Amino acid sequence: MEASYAQKSTSKEIRDRFDKDVARFSNLDTGQQSTIDAVLSLELITEAAKAVNPNATALLDIGCGAGNYSLKMLSKVPGLHCTLLDLSGPMLERAGERVGKETVGRVEVVRKDVREAELIEGGYDIILAGAVLHHLREEEDWEFVFRKIYNCLAPGGSFWISDLVVQDSAPVNAFIWEQYGRYLEGLGGAEYRQHVFDYIEKEDSPRSVNFQLDLMKKVGFKNVEVLHKNLCFAAFGGIKKAG
Ligand SMILES: C[S@@+](CC[C@H](N)C(=O)[O-])C[C@H]1O[C@@H](n2cnc3c(N)ncnc32)[C@H](O)[C@@H]1O
Repeated sequence: MEASYAQKSTSKEIRDRFDKDVARFSNLDTGQQSTIDAVLSLELITEAAKAVNPNATALLDIGCGAGNYSLKMLSKVPGLHCTLLDLSGPMLERAGERVGKETVGRVEVVRKDVREAELIEGGYDIILAGAVLHHLREEEDWEFVFRKIYNCLAPGGSFWISDLVVQDSAPVNAFIWEQYGRYLEGLGGAEYRQHVFDYIEKEDSPRSVNFQLDLMKKVGFKNVEVLHKNLCFAAFGGIKKAG
């Protein structure tokens, strides 16, 4: 049975929070202290995208925040046309400025929920989703978004996720999150741990790596790849069959 999401933040609450958090997401190296291996995961998914699509011309960055993922991607595949999609206007403003300086390609900003955005079918060689999909709630939403992403990829294109995840079995999940709690305490003490756990409880509804890889296969991805996992953070993706 699916969990109830009635107590979780609405899209508007999520947008309002991120509207005020632009500075924290504007640094490639220090942006997300509470995310284990954030820098490594970003490196791995952009390197994997480059390996699969070295001649890419169009990138879609879902939940782009202040643009860190697009900037890292551009450092590996220069000149990309970049579509930056986010709920938050202030995030998009910063992302547009930063990304515009780093590419000769077109930069388009889309201020929409990923579920509602009108995106070009087959229009993107690389799609990145960094720390955003855990805001999806019901299974049908996840399937809708994964199908949409698959349809938006050009043949041979690739989709890469770096995100908070859970485990499928309750006892394993419990000990993994206990370990994550210790990691947070090491960073900022018991109060910081509680602060992070409280906002995850309120705002996030992560799914397991297995769930997401199975869903990728269900919507059509031929190859799925796990690049990295450390406790409740993982980097993984899927590749669409070439035409
Ligand atoms: C944790 S931030 C990550 C930003 C960026 N990817 C990074 O890692 O630096 C998540 C971003 O996703 C956006 N977001 C959350 N839910 C979204 C949705 N349903 N559609 C589009 N953007 C969303 C938020 O506004 C926020 O800017």
